[in-house]
Amino acid sequence: MNPANLDILVLYYSRHGSTRQLAELIAQGIDSVKGCDARLRTVPAVSTVAEATQPEIPDQGAPYVELKDLEECAGLAMGSPTRFGNMAAPLKYFWDGTSSQWLSGTLAGKPACVFTSTGSLHGGQESTLLSMMLPLMHHGMVLLGLPYTQPELMTTASGGSPYGASHWSGVNGSHAISEDTRSLAIALGRRLAQIACKLQGR
Ligand SMILES: Cc1cc2nc3c(=O)[nH]c(=O)nc-3n(C[C@H](O)[C@H](O)[C@H](O)COP(=O)(O)O)c2cc1C
Repeated sequence: MNPANLDILVLYYSRHGSTRQLAELIAQGIDSVKGCDARLRTVPAVSTVAEATQPEIPDQGAPYVELKDLEECAGLAMGSPTRFGNMAAPLKYFWDGTSSQWLSGTLAGKPACVFTSTGSLHGGQESTLLSMMLPLMHHGMVLLGLPYTQPELMTTASGGSPYGASHWSGVNGSHAISEDTRSLAIALGRRLAQIACKLQGR
């Protein structure tokens, strides 16, 4: 890793691994852009039992996000499984603890994109993607999606939309990531990194 490179945060929550697979593809797209490194981070699960705690280091996947990751990143990709047409609580909980970063404009002007995984094809990919943009807009981020110059957007029968990357995991996560979903996730990461470079005048 080159310390002069721009770090792009890929922040996700994933219970069963489908959203994590998308996050890794988005990271691949970011890393394909010269001068950019993906920084993969996750959030701990939340519990109705106030005393419940998570291990300091997750059992699998990326390390837990820290607030300094928001300061240090030049852009952000955020991914969540769809939960009743919306983002999962652990990510929402994380954003609810970012008032100080909101007040100081830590993320203002930085580019962002979103991604999700659903159990059913029409189970709310687009509503989740669009609603995940809301806290990022409050933070002043510059939201971007996927343009129709990506030919897979016209043909995909699995996931991927102008609002961001998405995966149809099926019941019990039985569906592998399709070729269209894979290309669109990588393209989204690449686009995010390219725009982050342009915004930094690189
Ligand atoms: C509480 C809960 C709510 C869910 N709501 C939806 C939903 O609204 N639409 C849908 O298609 N799938 C829904 N699912 C299924 C997950 O979105 C799907 O399994 C996803 O791929 C899991 O991602 P992960 O492997 O990253 O955890 C829900 C799952 C849970 C546990």
